[in-house]
Amino acid sequence: MHRPVAMTSALLLFSLFAAGGSAIAQTPSASAADRTAKPAAEVEKILRGRYLVDSGACGDCHTPLKMGKSGPEPDLSRLLSGHPQGLVMPPAPTLPAGPWLVVSSATNTAWAGPWGVSFTANLTPDGATGLGRWTAKQFADTMRTGKHLGFGREILPPMPIPAYKHFNDTDLDAIFAYLQAIPPIKNRVLAPLPPAGAASSAKK
Ligand code: HEC
Repeated sequence: MHRPVAMTSALLLFSLFAAGGSAIAQTPSASAADRTAKPAAEVEKILRGRYLVDSGACGDCHTPLKMGKSGPEPDLSRLLSGHPQGLVMPPAPTLPAGPWLVVSSATNTAWAGPWGVSFTANLTPDGATGLGRWTAKQFADTMRTGKHLGFGREILPPMPIPAYKHFNDTDLDAIFAYLQAIPPIKNRVLAPLPPAGAASSAKK
């Protein structure tokens, strides 16, 4: 299930950097080689970021699932774009008391639990609805502190902040570089909803 994601991101990168690659191939002079040195390092950083995003399972929650022939599969036309804005979720089902605690949508992008309902964020570089206007520092601060942009509201479960805060600076920089290199997708993700109890007590 994960292999197609990796392959598609590889293809994306190939198409993204096809122009740079052919420039490298066509420029024999030393000055041209100097000019290509930085992009090559940038490509390496982006590839490392893709590796970390794929192995860190970001797509499991941030790429919506769609129903395929042999079960749910990632909808690669929506790579890492978060909970689809057109998918309006009905109220979360009330679970019986007992060991079941969390429910998720068929897309794996909306989650209801004791914290309320959370929707996975759009991680693509769209300027209006994704991370297009974020800086690498804002991204790193978010992942480290578990707060939006490093100082805003608390980022809710199931975003695995307790695991990801251990990424080092180089890792986070590479992840951000990859996320900025994938196709931007316009998809406005809803703000989280408070827990049912909190919502009704807020109304009182
Ligand atoms: C188990 C599911 C899950 C996984 C895996 C996951 N996320 Fe998330 N992520 C979420 C949810 C849900 C939210 C929204 C939480 C909220 O609204 O408070 C979120 C929010 C975020 C945000 C905050 C966006 C903002 O506007 O503040 C960033 C950044 C992010 N995720 C990046 C990542 C990256 C990078 C990875 C992989 C290294 C990843 N996520 C893996 C579920 C997940």
